[in-house]
Amino acid sequence: MTLELFTEASGQWQETLCPGAVVLRGFATPAAGGLLAALGEIARQAPFRHMITPGGFCMSVAMTNCGPLGWITDRTGYRYDSIDPDSGKPWPTLPELFLQLAQTAAAKAGFNHFEPDACLINRYRPGARLSLHQDKDERDFTQPIISVSLGLPAVFLFGGSRRDDKPARVLLTHGDVAAWGGAARLRYHGILPLKAGHHPLLGEQRINLTFRKAT
Ligand code: SIN
Ligand code: FE2
Repeated sequence: MTLELFTEASGQWQETLCPGAVVLRGFATPAAGGLLAALGEIARQAPFRHMITPGGFCMSVAMTNCGPLGWITDRTGYRYDSIDPDSGKPWPTLPELFLQLAQTAAAKAGFNHFEPDACLINRYRPGARLSLHQDKDERDFTQPIISVSLGLPAVFLFGGSRRDDKPARVLLTHGDVAAWGGAARLRYHGILPLKAGHHPLLGEQRINLTFRKAT
């Protein structure tokens, strides 16, 4: 897979992974402080938890959500729900800063009119991983996936439209935003086990915000 590099006047880099998929290097860095402050409040209302897959495995990534809909998994399957099953209450509101960041990143990546109604928040501690999967629990595949990385770096696997297509390895670091949609919307992707380390803002963890239009 070839990587095209573009430099811009802002000093930010944009890397094209394939048609419809880009990484906006450092795009979220200016917003990181505000994002983390809002995240603290979200995690207080809807604490991170390790969900169970339909196959009965406990996920190594801890998750929570904000916005009208949250992605959940349990023995009955993967789905979106407006209610946090742990609290019985709606998920915390999507902060305005989250929405603005997701929409400006989407527009910069070439996806105008992105209207996310779900923000999945993934927390990786060293060793946590996410195996190759497609994001396909959403109804409308014309809307992209916008994925914001904070904290420790991680290796993002970006594969093809078949599970056995060899994935590219892309290092995602603090502030990077990956966006994929259009022809790339159903690409397989995942995260290799997180390496131990210390991040000045987040300590020994990586946080990923994944914005989607679920309905
Ligand atoms: C995801 O695929 O839901 C998350 C990917 C990531 O953590 O970067
Ligand atoms: Fe995903």
